[in-house]
Amino acid sequence: MAGRVPRSFIDDLLNRVDIVEVIDSRVPLKKKGREYWACCPFHGEKTASFSVSSSKQFYHCFGCQKSGNAVGFLMDYDHMEFVEAIESLAQSLGIEVPYEQGTAPAKPAQGLESMYQSMEQSSQYYEAQLKQTPAAIDYLKDRGISGQTAKTFAIGYAPPGWNNLSGDEKQLVETGMLVKKESGKPYDRFRHRLMFPIRDRRGHTIAFGGRVINPEDNPKYLNSPESPLFHKSDEIYGLYELKKAVTNIDRIYVTEGYMDVVALAEHGVKTAVATLGTAINNRQIESLFRVCKNLVFCFDGDTAGKKAAWRSLEECLASLKEGRLARFLFLPEGQDPDSYISEFGSEAFDQQVEQASTLTEYLFETLLTECNIKTLEGRAQFLDRLRPYFMQIPLQSLKDQILTEVEQRTGQQIDTRMLRLLGEDKPVAATGSRMPEPHWTPTRLAINLLLKKPALAQSTGTHDELAESGIPGVDLLLKILDRIHDEPEISTQNLLDRFKDDDHESHLYKLAAMEPPVEDDESLERMFADCLQSLRKQYIDHRQKQLITKLQSGEALSEAEKREHKKLFTNHS
Ligand code: UTP
Ligand code: MN
Repeated sequence: MAGRVPRSFIDDLLNRVDIVEVIDSRVPLKKKGREYWACCPFHGEKTASFSVSSSKQFYHCFGCQKSGNAVGFLMDYDHMEFVEAIESLAQSLGIEVPYEQGTAPAKPAQGLESMYQSMEQSSQYYEAQLKQTPAAIDYLKDRGISGQTAKTFAIGYAPPGWNNLSGDEKQLVETGMLVKKESGKPYDRFRHRLMFPIRDRRGHTIAFGGRVINPEDNPKYLNSPESPLFHKSDEIYGLYELKKAVTNIDRIYVTEGYMDVVALAEHGVKTAVATLGTAINNRQIESLFRVCKNLVFCFDGDTAGKKAAWRSLEECLASLKEGRLARFLFLPEGQDPDSYISEFGSEAFDQQVEQASTLTEYLFETLLTECNIKTLEGRAQFLDRLRPYFMQIPLQSLKDQILTEVEQRTGQQIDTRMLRLLGEDKPVAATGSRMPEPHWTPTRLAINLLLKKPALAQSTGTHDELAESGIPGVDLLLKILDRIHDEPEISTQNLLDRFKDDDHESHLYKLAAMEPPVEDDESLERMFADCLQSLRKQYIDHRQKQLITKLQSGEALSEAEKREHKKLFTNHS
């Protein structure tokens, strides 16, 4: 019953969901070059020819030619109905599906729903316990956290004792709230700890982090284990609270601890998030960039902090698309955002942020400490070290900026040898994927460029005359141009979705899966204009030949043809 979910909602969903996340959680993907790859889940194979494009938000198998968007993937892979797939994606984003009429389909699996309820019940229990436990309240007070902030993050307290939690035992075991050993009765996992609920993007409590109050206890933080609700490496602490509190998010601070998020919020910095004791991964970074294009990674200035920062830089590179900015803040050694802002206040913290390094600065500073670029050898070594990072950057303008920086730092003009050291001579396909060399024609290329950047259509007028040209594929090109003229702001994924069930659908995905020969906006525009120019020329040649044949055969030209003949032979030949 596709009609009951509004088109605009599906558009919005496709723009917000990340197909890489959706597929990766089912079929682990590996990043190679710009795309993500795996062995195709739809046909048996030993080498990966199943590609997932993050920028265009679709998958395509170069082996079996299957392709589609996130909705299509769920339908095929998880055997979902259309509405189920929509529901599932909406749920992962924490949004409700608005139905145009009639009733919503049955609630999702009973199991999950009641697990959420059970977690919520535990969370409320811990919050109530906090209010009754002076030692826990004092601990929070000592750390400068007000009742209001504690409430925002639903901070609670798990009292000592082994059997405090009530509810369905099986469920409490499944969500990790109870620990079940082989023999004996299950017991409470969290005892005498300050409790930080971890919420998913929709606000469901899906796990807890529990901090000791007694410094002798360990571990310092105990986290819920993985469960049907909780996948540690997918979640971001504080993201739900942030979205709830702030509508215009101009910057997100990425920290390492629950207390950093909470303390920053206490000081009015309400856009901080944290990973859950694990290094941040590219999927989490992608999710954050989708919320806000400006990320500030905050680290302690010690060795562990530096190591974590470098990891974050590596995970960031592939996500550096147009307009996205990643900066790196190193606090004085021994300080984390919590201790720093608590000691020096929010103004001092802001000043630190002002001084944060850009990603390029941080990249250069780090590599330059390892190589002496005053020597020829050192310069080669430097470029060699830079290469793996440089190659991952998808944005040509950022690459250019880095090349300029290389010139400035080394005092040498970039030449082809240097470019080769940076891996720039290799085509994208050389990164180990099985992407076939595309056979470009002006039509294919024009369509491919439009799918990469639909806004290109705006730079052109109408091309209705091309419809008569008989050039293969031009009808599809015109159809796409019409679409974009109707909806000038349309995104690639929405554009592709407009051709759902169209005869051209699979052809279109095939074209979209090809890497265009250029990347930056200026070249895209130039190349697109060239394609149209060359199609127009083909058309003119074709018409000229037709008219000449007609004349030579002794037939008379109609008035319109005479005008056309004149035009064709004066303007263009
Ligand atoms: P930190 O040790 O830096 O903690 O661990 P913190 O956030 O500064 O906490 P306070 O200020 O001492 O209270 C950072 C994060 O690593 C995870 C937690 O997610 C924590 O927030 N962690 C740390 C654990 O999971 N277990 C631990 O034992 C320690
Ligand atoms: Mn801390």
